[in-house]
Amino acid sequence: MPAGKLGLALTAREVTSLVADDLKQVESVFRLESIGSVDAVSQIARYLQGNGGKRLRPILLLVSCRLFQDPPPEAIQLAAVVELIHTATLVHDDVIDDAKTRRGKSSANVVWGNQVSVLAGDWLYMQAFQIALRLRRFEILDLLITLTQRMVDGELLQLERLGRISLTEADALELIDHKTASLFAACTRLGALAGGASEKDQLLLSEFGWNLGMAFQIVDDILDFTARESVLGKPVGNDLREGKVTLPLCYALETASPEERALVEAVLADRAYERVSFDQIRALLVRHGGIERARARASEFTARARALLEHFAESPARSALAAATDLVAERDR
Ligand code: IPE
Ligand code: IPE
Ligand code: MG
Ligand code: MG
Repeated sequence: MPAGKLGLALTAREVTSLVADDLKQVESVFRLESIGSVDAVSQIARYLQGNGGKRLRPILLLVSCRLFQDPPPEAIQLAAVVELIHTATLVHDDVIDDAKTRRGKSSANVVWGNQVSVLAGDWLYMQAFQIALRLRRFEILDLLITLTQRMVDGELLQLERLGRISLTEADALELIDHKTASLFAACTRLGALAGGASEKDQLLLSEFGWNLGMAFQIVDDILDFTARESVLGKPVGNDLREGKVTLPLCYALETASPEERALVEAVLADRAYERVSFDQIRALLVRHGGIERARARASEFTARARALLEHFAESPARSALAAATDLVAERDR
C-alpha cells in the first residue's frame, strides 16, 4: 500500500479501531431500533446484521466526525440511521434484482419472499427516519429525504436502462452517483455536521465522500467481473446477467467489434450465460482494456478524494480517511 503525502497508510483494522468503541454502540442502536412489532421485520434485520457487511457507511460517518471532535451521541444515532438506510436499500435492491445471495447467505427475498421483504424494507426506511426525527434537526431530515429519493431515482433509472447495450460513460457514472456516491456523501457530511464542522468543512467532506463513493461503486462493478464469489459474498458475472452494462463493459464496448457486441447482446437478451459464457465476456473485457480503464477512472476519484483531505490538519482521523481511499481502491469484497 503506498504511503502518500498524508502519512503512512493504515490497514483496514487500524481504520476501524479508531471507531471500534463507537461502532459497538452503533450495533446496539441498530439492534434495538430494528425490533418491529411484527417478527418478520426483526428477523430480517437481525439476519442481515448477523451476516456481516463492512459497516463502511457508519465508519465513514464516525471517522468524519472524529476529524472535529469525539462523536457525540447524535453521531452514534446517525451512524445507525445510515446503516439502516443502507440495509433497507439492500433488501429492496435484492427484490428488484431478483438476487439470490447477499453477504454470503441467501438474500432476504429468497428466505422471506418478495412481499415480506418489500414491506420490511419500507419499515426499516421509516425506522431510520424515526431515529433521525428524534434529533429535531430539519437540515438532517432534509438531507436524508433528498438522499433517499436520489437513491430511488437511481434504481428507477437503472430499471429504465436495463438490457440496453448503448450506454455511455456519462450514463454509467450518473447511475453510480445516484445509487452509491450520494449515500457516501451524506455519511461524511453528517459526520462533519455531528462533529460541529463549519458549513464549508461539511461541504468539503461531502465532496470527499462523494468521490470515495464513486470509486467504491466502480470497484464494485470491476469486482463483478474479477472477484471470487466466496470472497465477494454475492455471485460474479451478475450485473450483465441482470441486464446491466456497467462501466468496465461500457469502456470495452467502445472498441469492440460487431461480433463481440453480439456476444454481449446475447447475454442481455437471454439474461443468462447460455449461448455465450462468462469467460468469453471476461476475455472481451480484458482484450479491450475495460477493467484497466475502469480502474484508472476509480483512481481519479480516489485521488480527488485524497486531495480534498489536504484542507484539514494532520490527525489520526485524517490518516484514517486517507487510508480509506486506498482500501476502497484495493478491496476484494
Ligand atoms: C453493497 O454495499 C451495495 C453497493 C453499493 C455496491 P457494500 O459492499 O458496502 O455492502 P456491505 O454492507 O458490506 O454488505
Ligand atoms: C447497489 O446496487 C445497491 C444500491 C446502492 C441500491 P447493485 O444492484 O448494483 O449492487 P449489488 O451488486 O446488488 O450489491
Ligand atoms: Mg443488486
Ligand atoms: Mg441493483
